[in-house]
Amino acid sequence: MGIFETRDNTLYFDGVSTTWLAAEFGTPLYVFSKTEIVKRIAEIKKEFLYKHKNTRVAYASKAFLTLAMCRVVEEQGLSLDVVSGGELYTAIRAGFPTERIEFHGNNKSYAELEMAIEYGVGHIIIDAFDELSVIEELCERYGKTVKVLYRITPEVDADTHRHISTGGKGSKFGFSMEESVIYPLLKEAIDSEYVTLAGIHFHVGSQLFENAGHLQALKKALALFKGVRDRYGYELPEINVGGGFGIAYTSEDERKSFGYFLDPIMEETERFCRANGLTRPTIVTEPGRSIVGESGITLYTVGSVKEIEGVRTYVSVDGGMSDNIRPALYGAKYEGMIANKANAIPTTTVTVCGKCCESGDKLIKDALFVEAQRGDILAVFSTGAYGYSMANNYNKQPIPAAVMVEEGKARLIVKRQSYYDLIRNELLPEHDGARTLAVVAAVS
Ligand code: LLP
Repeated sequence: MGIFETRDNTLYFDGVSTTWLAAEFGTPLYVFSKTEIVKRIAEIKKEFLYKHKNTRVAYASKAFLTLAMCRVVEEQGLSLDVVSGGELYTAIRAGFPTERIEFHGNNKSYAELEMAIEYGVGHIIIDAFDELSVIEELCERYGKTVKVLYRITPEVDADTHRHISTGGKGSKFGFSMEESVIYPLLKEAIDSEYVTLAGIHFHVGSQLFENAGHLQALKKALALFKGVRDRYGYELPEINVGGGFGIAYTSEDERKSFGYFLDPIMEETERFCRANGLTRPTIVTEPGRSIVGESGITLYTVGSVKEIEGVRTYVSVDGGMSDNIRPALYGAKYEGMIANKANAIPTTTVTVCGKCCESGDKLIKDALFVEAQRGDILAVFSTGAYGYSMANNYNKQPIPAAVMVEEGKARLIVKRQSYYDLIRNELLPEHDGARTLAVVAAVS
């Protein structure tokens, strides 16, 4: 049984009625299918972890992270890729085993690194010239050691939206592979008494449908791997190939299997290592979107339906770019349906827009829908990745609640923000009077 079904003219998601979900938890509502998340994890275990020895999967939590999601990742035995103090904090608060955390970021603060060392994260992926010295200082202070990787810029231009292509020469991520840049950095880590140099990391981009970018980057990483052995007699224990595996947002997209991306990586690595007398390093991958993207939907309530004679019909929903900024930011395409009219045949072309004060606040452009009326429940598919995690309070829209469903059961995992939450951290000037006066005195 798939996770989508129609019963009584209503869309069911992982055994739960979407109209019931909307009535029970309100809209907009993020809904995640645990069954589908676990299925995607089972796929990558079968096609990668169990198929090849010395491999590791770190779920890229930037795609979707909550305490409950940490629990799923933990119980499924994966590692967790975090990229900020906030993500790290979430994992720690969820009780996620910190040795299974991999800490990324091109501009980690001192406080973030301190939290990472104090709580004993397993791997830190270094992406700043002065980062190693801070890590060493903290390791000394806390009496800890840590494994580090260096993120390289593989100079590969992945075929995706330019905002999510991260491996090109001009990228803010990674270190140049120029010999004069990368070798001294790696040597410094090899010689360090506080860190173990675990390896190198690259991430070529996101929402990819071809494996060419990963393979080009891998070849460059392997050359560096051999170079380090030749120069320093040191064999790097691991290579992290990032994530980026594309998913189906619309019926035109065809998701490739994990094996499609990862098998050639394993073959090339094994071939290269055999040819050069190297021990095959552990290969690590960091999928985010491909684990949660298709596992999530968003439910909205239809409000105003506005027909502009001869131009288009807008079906407005009670959310928009505040809960899903991807269409406005990347021109991302989505599909949806009226969930309480699941058996009806779509006949009208409409544009689904949000309620934000911005013309670009369109979730779905010119798509066939059944006739929509105020009060209908509209479901948008494949919103599990980078929807909640990029949600914002534009127009003081509260961030929606999230529910995890599994075989007919539903659990609230994120409470809806209240209006009070929107002003919780705001202060009126008189609350801060003394400080304001001090600042005025200082500048005058
Ligand atoms: N590893 C690293 C180092 C990354 O930078 C990323 C994504 C991933 C793994 C996971 O990539 P995934 O498997 O999810 O494609 N906000 C954008 C996506 C930005 C991705 C940034 N890095 C979007 O909504 O499409």
